[in-house]
Amino acid sequence: MSQPNSPVILNGSKCAAVIQEQLGEIVARLKGTHGLIPGLDVLLIGDSAASISYVTGKKKAAEKIGISGRIHHYPADITLAYGLEKLEEIQNQSDCNGVLVQLPLPDMWSADGVDAERRVIDAIQVAKDVDGFTLASQGHLFSNHPEGLKPCTPMGILALMKAYGLKTEAVRGKNVCVVGRSHIVGNPICHLLSQKPQEDFNLGLGDATVTQCNSRTKDLARHCLDSDIIISATGYPGLVRADMVKPGAVLMDVGVNRVEDSGKKRGYRLVGDIDYEAVLPKAGYITPVPGGIGPMTITMLLYNTIQAACLQNGLAIPGLDWADIQCKIAEI
Ligand code: GUN
Repeated sequence: MSQPNSPVILNGSKCAAVIQEQLGEIVARLKGTHGLIPGLDVLLIGDSAASISYVTGKKKAAEKIGISGRIHHYPADITLAYGLEKLEEIQNQSDCNGVLVQLPLPDMWSADGVDAERRVIDAIQVAKDVDGFTLASQGHLFSNHPEGLKPCTPMGILALMKAYGLKTEAVRGKNVCVVGRSHIVGNPICHLLSQKPQEDFNLGLGDATVTQCNSRTKDLARHCLDSDIIISATGYPGLVRADMVKPGAVLMDVGVNRVEDSGKKRGYRLVGDIDYEAVLPKAGYITPVPGGIGPMTITMLLYNTIQAACLQNGLAIPGLDWADIQCKIAEI
């Protein structure tokens, strides 16, 4: 009789804690040896509860490892011009090594055909672009320049896989289905995984055959079924069902969706794009939501801030000790 499958749960919260402990040691060394305290500035406009919660999480995580985290919070009715002025002031402070503008921006800024998001993001100095969202950072990424700061969610996905021992051979020549085509997740993860494996570019996880799907894809199930690794970043709960998953597949869920749940005090619960409970018996590796990719994104943001601080001060970029990370994860 066949044994029930027992998938590896890729615990992003624990992995984030292990990596952040290392980052804390790196920050302590930078302070002790060079008197350098990396600084992360977050510009938040408006009162979206989700955005406030995200930026508070980023600041807390930064402070826990010794990075100086500052939130600059303005009301939703400031003008785009004023927002750009504030951004300029913030990033010109000498103790700002990394800056990010929390998205989404006020709707009002995009009236009359103005692409406010592009205007604001591209006003960020490339050297301080810790989200990796500027056109210049994207240019570095898509032309395989190792020096650019890379977007945090795609790098968080790769870091989580690597921490759980998924090495070059787990990706090389494998079929990957990416569902989603955002600048932030879908497009960059497709590129990273399809390029040659290089430690300082894609953490050695490359050479995959990547299929990128979107909302118009015909027969998404067939593409998913054909894949050894599925990465979903769409915002549609339950999009990836059990009948779409090949036994033993690696399932990385970037979706964070609220679904009504009268049993919860706040009236909703968070779920991913993947029908977690249903796919569990078929999965080889799977990320939970919450507690999967989310904490890894924050971790990569902190690492980018450290990298930016080092580059701005003529210091070598400190590497992560992957053997130690893998060893600690194996003990969990
Ligand atoms: N809004 C939701 N996710 C993100 C993110 O990763 N960076 C920024 N700047 N805004 C976001």
